[in-house]
Amino acid sequence: MTEKELKVKPIKNGTVIDHIAGGQALNVLKILGIGADADVSLSLLMNVDSKKLGKKDIVKVEDRELKEGEVNKIALIAPGATINIVRDYEVVDKYEVDLPDMIIGVIRCQNPSCISNTQEPIKSRVLVKGKNPVVLRCVYCEQPITENIADYLI
Ligand code: CTP
Repeated sequence: MTEKELKVKPIKNGTVIDHIAGGQALNVLKILGIGADADVSLSLLMNVDSKKLGKKDIVKVEDRELKEGEVNKIALIAPGATINIVRDYEVVDKYEVDLPDMIIGVIRCQNPSCISNTQEPIKSRVLVKGKNPVVLRCVYCEQPITENIADYLI
């Protein structure tokens, strides 16, 4: 990458989430549970030019190495995103996110009378029936969730 293309400075240690579909960076942070009160150094690039995607977002989280289990669920809204683990300025690990078979506590069921919506201690559980396109199904009431997945983030 040339100096001219470098929009945000490299990080010394942490995690870079690259190749996020343009405009989805804030939903990625939501899924990861990184909110305004999170005590982490974050850099966000939104809608930068990408050869592969047209426009892409990038999230850099400093001094935190995100675990595969916690980042994979971002494939709900950013399939194809790449996770780069950076140590002492070098990328030491790189992989593409891959959805797990079940996602707990991230997506609300679309059915308002589902017990996961009506009974407080019951956490939402959705089965991943398809990855591309993403097809989800509620474990409790079998309601499919196929469109506007970002609208159902908890
Ligand atoms: N990066 C960073 N800080 C570093 C090293 C890398 O912020 N110290 C970022 C880069 O800006 C890039 C991502 O991490 O967004 C991956 O880095 P690298 O593997 O060097 O880039 P590419 O080869 O372009 O990655 P890919 O092949 O995955 O597109």
